Amino acid sequence: MKDSNFLKENNARQMWHPMTSPKDSIDSPPKIITGSSGVTITDIDGHTVIDGVGGLWNVNLGYSCQPIKDAMAAQLETLPYYSTFRGTTNDAVIELSYELAEFFEPDGLSRAFFTSGGSDSVETALRLARQYHKLRGESGRTKFLSLKKGYHGTHIGGASVNGNANFRTAYEPLLPGCFHIPAPYTYRNPFNETDPEMLANLCIKALEDEIAFQGANTIAAMIMEPILGAGGVIVPHKSFAPMVREICDRNGILLITDEVITAYGRTGAWSGARLWGIKPDMMATAKAITNGYFPFGAVMLGDKMIEAFENNDNAKIGHGYTYSGHPVGAAAALACLAETKRLNVIENAASRGTQMFEGFKALKEKHSIIGDVRGGQGLMTAIEMVADRTTKQPIDGASAATVQEVAYQNGAMIRVSGPNIILSPSLVLTEQDTNTILSALDTAFAAV
Ligand SMILES: Cc1ncc(COP(=O)(O)O)c(C=O)c1O
Repeated sequence: MKDSNFLKENNARQMWHPMTSPKDSIDSPPKIITGSSGVTITDIDGHTVIDGVGGLWNVNLGYSCQPIKDAMAAQLETLPYYSTFRGTTNDAVIELSYELAEFFEPDGLSRAFFTSGGSDSVETALRLARQYHKLRGESGRTKFLSLKKGYHGTHIGGASVNGNANFRTAYEPLLPGCFHIPAPYTYRNPFNETDPEMLANLCIKALEDEIAFQGANTIAAMIMEPILGAGGVIVPHKSFAPMVREICDRNGILLITDEVITAYGRTGAWSGARLWGIKPDMMATAKAITNGYFPFGAVMLGDKMIEAFENNDNAKIGHGYTYSGHPVGAAAALACLAETKRLNVIENAASRGTQMFEGFKALKEKHSIIGDVRGGQGLMTAIEMVADRTTKQPIDGASAATVQEVAYQNGAMIRVSGPNIILSPSLVLTEQDTNTILSALDTAFAAV
């Protein structure tokens, strides 16, 4: 490995970073992370902080999960790769499919289609939704519905159902036939409704209107995050997801839950679907499936999909990735799933999530820069920063960057996305770690 001077000099010079401009990366070079342990990360200058971001919503079990590392190393020795395209498979992925079917049995999902990550999982679900309707003789059902503020990855299909212009405009024209419903976002919404249950009803009304306008028999699927993550941790009222499920059923529309973040325990339940008591037709998962140690994902499939595809001689799946069912990813996922269950991470996610959310509320009392705090369902929490509480004018970029840097200097890596601080730490975070993050935030807000 080259020395640290070389690394600093070349930082961001030969690489374009996702979700930022190449010029920004050169003008303010990204932090170079070189080490990790437990829930902490260490940068090239030896500064160690608690990772409030949990990698990128994926390192649910922390950086020192030895059983996953061992399983991956062992798999690399015996079979580092073999494809699962027609005619071959591998032992690890057979075992993983069995375990996932058991894990997601309460969600009504018992088949898996493997991918290389979250965007792949979303794309897979969208494509299989269209194919489902074609197999059933309803080839006019091609459109997709989704929520504004939703995030569904970056492939063209996913970007088309994304509800944030930042991820769309530069890449238009996107897929035709994608329509967006207002999100149940109480702090800002077109109805000026602040009551979560009333707002859920208004968004549902908008969904029904859109279905009537488009014609139900033109719509393939509705895709939504059970809790909107990247959009700023928008937690809908508990009535919302069941109402969406009912409307989809009534209109022959498939429901895809995008659980790239919410599956495997983050919300304090094993899946977002289970949190809200619904059974989706497909669930897109990735990220924490391997604790972030290997790029991997799984789309879980329910009875309607099984019925349409498994009882039809013509249901050839013309879709798949070289790394679908990669044995090292499968071995990582198997070990990760076993550890996730052994540690029963949902309990800690729920209690630390409550601690974090209550801490945010206390910070809001103290700092007028905080416009809104969101969370209350596991370790998914956000603070929305404003320049002015009355007008809700969002904070400027420079102040937001200062908050992030001061928090880092005081012991916590936090993620700032627009006006939002989004926290998604490992689910094995301790009470003390949570306090460290809260205290770093306190100092950071005081600094602006
Ligand atoms: C809900 C959701 N869907 C899809 C994705 C895309 O996943 P990936 O970045 O692994 O492609 C993300 C990433 O954060 C996500 O949060």
